[in-house]
Amino acid sequence: MSSMPMLPFTRPCIDERTISDVAAVLRSGWLTTGPGCAELEAALSTRFGGRPVRLVNSGTASLELALRLCGIGAGDEVITTPLSWVATANVVLAVGATPVFVDVDSRTRNIDLDRVEAAITPSTRAVMPVDWPACRSTATTCMRWPGGTACG
Ligand SMILES: Cc1ncc(COP(=O)(O)O)c(C=O)c1O
Repeated sequence: MSSMPMLPFTRPCIDERTISDVAAVLRSGWLTTGPGCAELEAALSTRFGGRPVRLVNSGTASLELALRLCGIGAGDEVITTPLSWVATANVVLAVGATPVFVDVDSRTRNIDLDRVEAAITPSTRAVMPVDWPACRSTATTCMRWPGGTACG
């Protein structure tokens, strides 16, 4: 083992309440969609003003679900960043669409909105930026075009 100090990618917040809540779920025998899921969906819905909330099992699943809910599929293009986890582009392929990579801004590491505009074609259905808040050195900016909005 190296004695080098670990530089955490993210530092999770795991307190005693989290541990005891997880233990309660494990003891209940419900490892998938048990009553705890319905409770969390209801609590989140209340927090977001009554909007419908559904839990999914991963970030990848949520991205794919979002694309499917938007009706994105074969023949469509989705503009995204090359600076992300592979799931970002993989979900575009999973729904049968084509990922179109646009380079990032060298200061923010977020997708460069000035370059996004040039990549929009009649087949563009969405822009999937990835926000790297730790790298952001400028305020978020948004662009709009007929049928879409992107923030970076
Ligand atoms: C930007 C981004 N999108 C999607 C994912 C995939 O999330 P998950 O591992 O929960 O499927 C990750 C995971 O690191 C990510 O960093």
